[in-house]
Amino acid sequence: MVKICCIGAGYVGGPTMAVIALKCPDIEVVVVDISAPRIDGWNSSDRLPIYEPGLDDVVRRCRGRNLLFSTDVERHVAEAGIVFVSVNTPTKTRGLGAGKAADLTYWESAARIIADVSRSDKIVVEKSTVPVKTAEAIEKILAHNSKDGIRYQILSNPEFLAEGTAVDDLFKPDRVLIGGRSETPEGRAAVAALKSVYARWVPEDRIITTNLWSAELSKLAANAFLAQRISSVNAISALCEATGADVANSIGKDSRIGPRFLSASVGFGGSCFQKDILNLVYICECYGLPEVASYWRQVIRINDYQKSRFVNRVVSSMFNTVAGKKVAVLGFAFKKDTGDTRETPAIDVCKGLVGDKAVVSIYDPQVTEEQVQRDLAMNKFDWDHPRHLQPMSPSVVARHVSVSWDAYEAAKGAHAVCILTEWDEFRRLDYQRMYDAMHKPAFLFDGRNVVDPDRLREIGFVVYSIGKPLDGWLKDMPAVA
Ligand code: NAD
Ligand code: UDX
Repeated sequence: MVKICCIGAGYVGGPTMAVIALKCPDIEVVVVDISAPRIDGWNSSDRLPIYEPGLDDVVRRCRGRNLLFSTDVERHVAEAGIVFVSVNTPTKTRGLGAGKAADLTYWESAARIIADVSRSDKIVVEKSTVPVKTAEAIEKILAHNSKDGIRYQILSNPEFLAEGTAVDDLFKPDRVLIGGRSETPEGRAAVAALKSVYARWVPEDRIITTNLWSAELSKLAANAFLAQRISSVNAISALCEATGADVANSIGKDSRIGPRFLSASVGFGGSCFQKDILNLVYICECYGLPEVASYWRQVIRINDYQKSRFVNRVVSSMFNTVAGKKVAVLGFAFKKDTGDTRETPAIDVCKGLVGDKAVVSIYDPQVTEEQVQRDLAMNKFDWDHPRHLQPMSPSVVARHVSVSWDAYEAAKGAHAVCILTEWDEFRRLDYQRMYDAMHKPAFLFDGRNVVDPDRLREIGFVVYSIGKPLDGWLKDMPAVA
């Protein structure tokens, strides 16, 4: 029986390995992590450490059969023929490249563990998103630390799943990308071995093979393109509000542009887009391409602008002050169908509102109070001017932020409601009931275009929908920058 080990039981390692185990019952798949609570979570019978639709079922079907979760990193790496590395690669916060470059500390430590414990040849698969040419560096670490002539083949196999749809994305990927050393027979054999795993359920024409550095750069480029699309539509959303035009639907009908990923929003979040673009910016600078770096940097600048523009709109609409006013925040996760709050725009919006002394009441179906408090009290690294921004002190969080387990409770006695995540349940809320329990004028700021603004205006709300023509009330308010 072939054995696969994956180092890193996170949002990528967990779901990806669970799907491989489901589709390849003859392969033993072990996911290892240095975090005991994470592994306990994966082994728990009631709540997995991440919320992902359909994942419980996949894990339940293979865990204990050919899917294991363990903290015994050394043993399972030593026993495996294929080792995936799916550890976190966050943005560096100190030293050379701080604020932009990828921090490869976890990756390097995983590579050193592999070199230390291996007693047989291995295929090492780069699953984490890494800077272009990382595989070459890892090859050197492994080759220089190899014991008893053990040989390693490095492959780059970046992951393209999106959170909230991870299981579907893994079942039916647009493509699987495998980069390897096609110039050597061992390299070609390694690519063929990994390809044969995916070929159990992915059509051959969707499995693309290429060289190592093209696979690495494809991942950064794909995320940069996706994020650029959102910043483009968000930039246009500001102009739509100013002019009363509404264009997303009509431009999406152009088959060369297409309708997907064109939803204006309060800003993109998640652990990938900002980090990967900053990484791309850093790489461009290192290769002496400042114009290219500055083009991609602008994608993040527009995203930051969109978040502060939203906060300014809320404050200016409400007579230029939210001091002491209760503002209900519906949605804290960075997108629907996940409990992940990494880089969620809700953190910046809540900090902005509390900065203007609002009292914020948050409801999200998947985010706990503890998580919200942690996020708001966390040091936030300013990518543009590398330094840590002041976190909210625990006493400010306690005085200004509360978390509610019910949307109506969050909105009770509020002056305004802000929708920051596009959870389906927010489309079905009884907004008349909410309106009746709010102060008047009752404002609704929809950062995700979840509600029908006309219907809510009929109820009596003053409605702001991102990227849509402003209603009369908002037009009369001073312009926001
Ligand atoms: P994560 O933080 O959820 O998980 C990473 C895990 O690796 C953690 O549990 C950590 O404890 C573990 N780890 C770190 N060093 C280790 C070591 N030496 N030994 C054992 N375990 C170790 O991260 P994630 O969201 O799963 O992302 C992993 C990688 O995949 C990143 O490079 C990310 O950019 C990329 N990626 C993420 C997504 C996504 O949607 N989250 C999608 C595509 C690619
Ligand atoms: C992204 C990539 O899509 C995925 O391929 C990669 O592997 C990891 O990074 P993810 O961050 O999980 O996935 O979710 P995604 O659906 O891309 O959304 C990212 C952010 O953009 C979210 O905050 C989402 O709400 C926002 N978004 C998305 C918009 O604001 N408008 C859109 O039209 C689409």
